[in-house]
Order: sequence, then C-alpha cells, then structure tokens
Amino acid sequence: MTNLPTTTPDNLPAEKITSYRERGFVHIPGILTPEEAAHFYEVALAFSKEPRSHVHGGNIFTQLVNVWQESEGMRALTLHRNIGAIAAKLAGTPLRLWHDQILIKQPHNNAATEFHQDQPYWPHANCPHPISAWVALCDVPVEKGCMTFLPGSQKRTELPAQNFGDDKSLFAIAPDLTWSERITVPLRAGDCTFHHGRCAHMATPNFTDDPRVAHIIIFMHTDTTYNGAPHIVTDPLGLSVGDRLDGDTFPAV
Ligand code: SIN
Ligand code: NI
Repeated sequence: MTNLPTTTPDNLPAEKITSYRERGFVHIPGILTPEEAAHFYEVALAFSKEPRSHVHGGNIFTQLVNVWQESEGMRALTLHRNIGAIAAKLAGTPLRLWHDQILIKQPHNNAATEFHQDQPYWPHANCPHPISAWVALCDVPVEKGCMTFLPGSQKRTELPAQNFGDDKSLFAIAPDLTWSERITVPLRAGDCTFHHGRCAHMATPNFTDDPRVAHIIIFMHTDTTYNGAPHIVTDPLGLSVGDRLDGDTFPAV
C-alpha cells in the first residue's frame, strides 16, 4: 500500500480552516508522509552544505532563499501539491509562490528568532492573505526551535517592520501584544504549521546536538503587485512599481 499524508485537501477538517482564519495560524499534522520528510531532510541538509553565495541569518538561522530554482530535489517539496492545495483552502484565495527558504537552526545555536510579522519585510501591494507553510523535516520539539504564535495578531495590518533579532522590537511597536496569549507548536517530522503573513511569531533556540531543518514555502495572492521596496527576491528582476509578480518566477498553485 502506498503511504498517503495524514492530511490532504480532501480530508482537511473544516475546523482547521475556521481556526486558521480566526487565529492566523494552524497546525496540520502529516502534510508529508514520514518517508517524504526523511527524504527531504537529507535533500535540504545536503543542499545547505553546497557552496552558495547567498546565505543569511547569522547565528539565528542558516537561510537559503529560492532553493526551488536551483535544486530539483527541493523543487519537488516547494511545489508539492498537497502543501499548495491546503494553503489555497486555508487562505480561500487563488495563490502563487512568492518564495521558499530552507531555515536551519544549527546545533546549539542558542538564539531565538524573535517575535515579528513577515509581511512588512515584503515588497507587496494587493496581497490581502499571504500564507506561509513551515514544514518540519525532522522532529522539532520546543528545545530544538519550534514556532510560537500570537493568535489574532494577523489583524494588526498597520504595524511597521519589526526586527527578528531583537526580543523587544515587536512589543515596543505594539505594547498591548505583551499581554497576548502565546501558542507554542512542537511538530513531528512531516507536520507543518501555516501562518498568515501578519500573524506574529517567534521560534525558540536550538539547544540540541542536531540541526533543526525546516522548509518554509510562502504563497501570495495571484494578483499581488510590486510596491518598489527592496527585497532579495525582486531586486534582480528589474521590476517597476505596479508590475504583477507573476510568470515563471512566481508559479501559480
Ligand atoms: C524560524 O524558523 O526560525 C523562523 C521562521 C519565521 O520567522 O517564519
Ligand atoms: Ni517569520
């Protein structure tokens, strides 16, 4: 018998969609089979060891952006139908890929990714519901660097960019969020969380002997246009303000 992922677009419970829309994030168990997760763990780790000019993140994480354009093995994960189809059901809008990133917290990196919203980092106009899949390629207990979310914070669409290297940044900008409930979501290999691009989140440090390997796949509304702000993904593309982010670089789901 062929193993199927536990959660598919066909059996996605309605409560998961409701919960995502209310709270701005949701835990989806088994978006990949354990075999797929083990396979992509090896592919991602091997890719991260290849020489590459753009690696970011300092000691917080090793960040490799748009790997789907360079690695056929990673492309199979970024364009995985199960992930894109569930993202579209949660968002309730037509989606295309914005970019992907392998995010590895190295063993004993001892540094959290501090609270922030993602969307202010992006040069987007006309993108009401950006949604990111954070896919665990190994078991990620709290001590290995899992995500924590502030439920409902996706409604805070007015906030300026925050610094994920500074634990005070978000709370200086939005002091009331100091008192928000925080939900921490440890994941088994092959599980994922989806979060809205305005849902504030952080990730704990990796205190373990092994790398924390996650793959993040970020989707945007198909009508998203470029607002002219600098960004590593759009800088090389020679875009003008108002251009649609579409074509082969941003494939539709
Ligand atoms: C992390 O996994 O360390 C952070 C991910 C994110 O900020 O989206
Ligand atoms: Ni983030």
